[in-house]
Amino acid sequence: MHIQGIGYYAPERIVDNDALSADLDTSDAWIRSRTGIRTRRLAADNQACSDLAAEAGKMAIISAGCTPENITHIIVGTVSGDAAFPATACLLQSKLKIPTAMAFDLGAACSGFLFGMQVAQGIMAAEPEATILLVGAETLSRRVNWQDRSTCVLFGDGAGAVVLKASPDACMPPGGIFPALVEGVICEGGGGGELLCCYGGGTRYPYRHGDIIGPEYFLHMNGQEVFKHAVRAMSDISSRLLKRLGRSVEDLDLVVPHQANLRIVKAVLERLQVPEGKAFLNLDRYGNTSAASIPMALAEAHIQGVIRPGFRVLLTTFGAGFTWGAALVKY
Ligand code: ACO
Repeated sequence: MHIQGIGYYAPERIVDNDALSADLDTSDAWIRSRTGIRTRRLAADNQACSDLAAEAGKMAIISAGCTPENITHIIVGTVSGDAAFPATACLLQSKLKIPTAMAFDLGAACSGFLFGMQVAQGIMAAEPEATILLVGAETLSRRVNWQDRSTCVLFGDGAGAVVLKASPDACMPPGGIFPALVEGVICEGGGGGELLCCYGGGTRYPYRHGDIIGPEYFLHMNGQEVFKHAVRAMSDISSRLLKRLGRSVEDLDLVVPHQANLRIVKAVLERLQVPEGKAFLNLDRYGNTSAASIPMALAEAHIQGVIRPGFRVLLTTFGAGFTWGAALVKY
């Protein structure tokens, strides 16, 4: 399976840590030292998840040298979609004027993008001609409790997208770093659901007319437990993926980790024994954009010329569920 094109979108509204501390008992110094985050982007009031996904998707389709008519499948990794139904992927399909495609959402939280890659591989095994638009898109700003300083400072909104093909397409623009071969991807999960969750709007705590929307409806997290599980899971699955592919950390030119927070990333790199300089980071500007974070970072690394032909790039993630995964991409 190859990545043939990539795109991303970050909403225009930039909110820095000082702006948050105007309404919340927090500070720029606390947020930066605990997370590495300086600013995050928040969707405008008239933007929902599919609007962000559409911008990223458009860019990915153009960069792949495709047209909307070429897309046969749309997968949107998201836990903050426009509606309970229809799927955000179906709304995206209409927005991008993709005439006929199998479109569905994938709810693996921050692991949505890598889970989507593994699902895409399965689709291609059955349908080698498939052209898959895989998007990670989130508007978690609508899911966090803006009065809970331990969570709301961490997240941002955004979207990233790739076009995936079993074999590189004849219509690909010449030059550039694509197609990139996905050498392997593994995704797993298990336990920990109650440590990072958001029940609002689900059938466990349904909204009832006249209800007061209390804190139980918003995102809850046990930060220290999530931290420990994330570091262990991301480093372990990355090591296993490398071993399975007959590779070692010396073969890596770049690591694009889920942009959860700087301390998690540093701890993962330390366990993997990868120098910090090999990680591409944009979490300082975007915060944690959940399923969007890896494709946004990959797209920026591509556009900034950080990824060069011949690079081997490790992707790794961890999210609610718990879910986690890793992939190796050769440019
Ligand atoms: N500003 C100021 N003080 C704060 C803030 C804030 N924004 N948030 C919490 N505090 C306070 C707490 O109330 C606590 O005060 P107390 O000692 O008076 O009770 C103190 O800071 C320490 O709180 P801890 O929770 O122990 O802080 P910790 O050092 O663990 O950092 C953090 C919290 C940043 C959430 C950390 O646990 C973490 O990074 N966890 C990983 C979570 C994560 O990244 N989740 C994203 C989703 S999952 C994923 O993407 C991998």
